[in-house]
Amino acid sequence: MINKTSQIETAVRLLQEGLPVAFPTETVYGLGANALSDSAVANIYKLKNRPQFNPLITHVADAKQAFSYVEYDERAEKLMARFWPGPLTIILPRRFDCRLSLLASAGLDNIALRAPDHKIAQRLLKEAALPIAAPSANRSGRISPTKAAHVVDEFGEGAVFIIEGDDCRVGIESTVIDLSTAGKAIILRHGSIVKSMLEDVLNSPVLALNETEYAEGNEQIKSPGMMLSHYAPQKDLRINAVDLHAGEALLAFGEIPVAMRREDSPVANLSPSGDLTEAAANLFSMLRELDKSNAPRIAAMKIPLQGLGLAINDRLSRAAR
Ligand code: TXA
Ligand code: MG
Repeated sequence: MINKTSQIETAVRLLQEGLPVAFPTETVYGLGANALSDSAVANIYKLKNRPQFNPLITHVADAKQAFSYVEYDERAEKLMARFWPGPLTIILPRRFDCRLSLLASAGLDNIALRAPDHKIAQRLLKEAALPIAAPSANRSGRISPTKAAHVVDEFGEGAVFIIEGDDCRVGIESTVIDLSTAGKAIILRHGSIVKSMLEDVLNSPVLALNETEYAEGNEQIKSPGMMLSHYAPQKDLRINAVDLHAGEALLAFGEIPVAMRREDSPVANLSPSGDLTEAAANLFSMLRELDKSNAPRIAAMKIPLQGLGLAINDRLSRAAR
């Protein structure tokens, strides 16, 4: 077997270059990218072949690093002190100066953080000195991998660099708890850290809803941080536009047709060369940029319905409703 230190050194270099790396954690293997880079994160969505941008978990070495990205309260401090490093993911509001990729949290104001309890994952986080956005290292709709060989099955031999480790000790994905709303603690995904363990530490009740109930919007928990309520611009958004009306800012893709050029309109081009990975990387930051511009409305050019274009279209059509 190849020497672990050299595998980690290679992984560190790849992460720093914005490339993906699969690595073991105590739960399942993760497919990691530099969480500070929208384009590195876009590569992950592309590899996973997801038709939507689901928010990803950002892995950090410890609570101290987490606190530099999110707003937190005593509850978060207590859970981190008790369960980190370990299989608990905590969702908290991004700090105003949070440098983590907007694409990593799918444009949401809340971000999911976890410090993994695994020697290799911890070494990788410390030696790369980067936060790592990592979903489970499987293609969309498939089972999470708990052995290096599973990751090879998912992406094919040589497609992704894998740090080989022992089989994952826990074997199921981390428990996800949403603390983004004051006074509410909601389990979004069940895992090995169960409700009673969380309640014991918090000394207060924890809600546990399955994702369907959550998506359907139980009144009790309706809140701005709801999992499936995506970031939407304040302004009206018109999609698949082929012309540009007065008062519209343009979200462009590829070459801008003459009919869509207006001198007084703010423009952001997702990818002048028509590259879908680049467009995905720019999507949330450009939507926000145009939302802040002086134009009262936004028109978006057509994006091809293929590859990452599916997720981009999914996102834009939700935002346009
Ligand atoms: O054990 C794990 O958590 C593994 C290892 C690699 O750490 N990771 C993992 O990531 O399972 P992923 O992307 O497959 O699952 C992330 C879960 C999804 O259910 C997602 O919807 C939820 O976390 N999530 C992430 N960010 C969120 C946010 N800002 N708001 C609500 N839910 C979020
Ligand atoms: Mg997964």
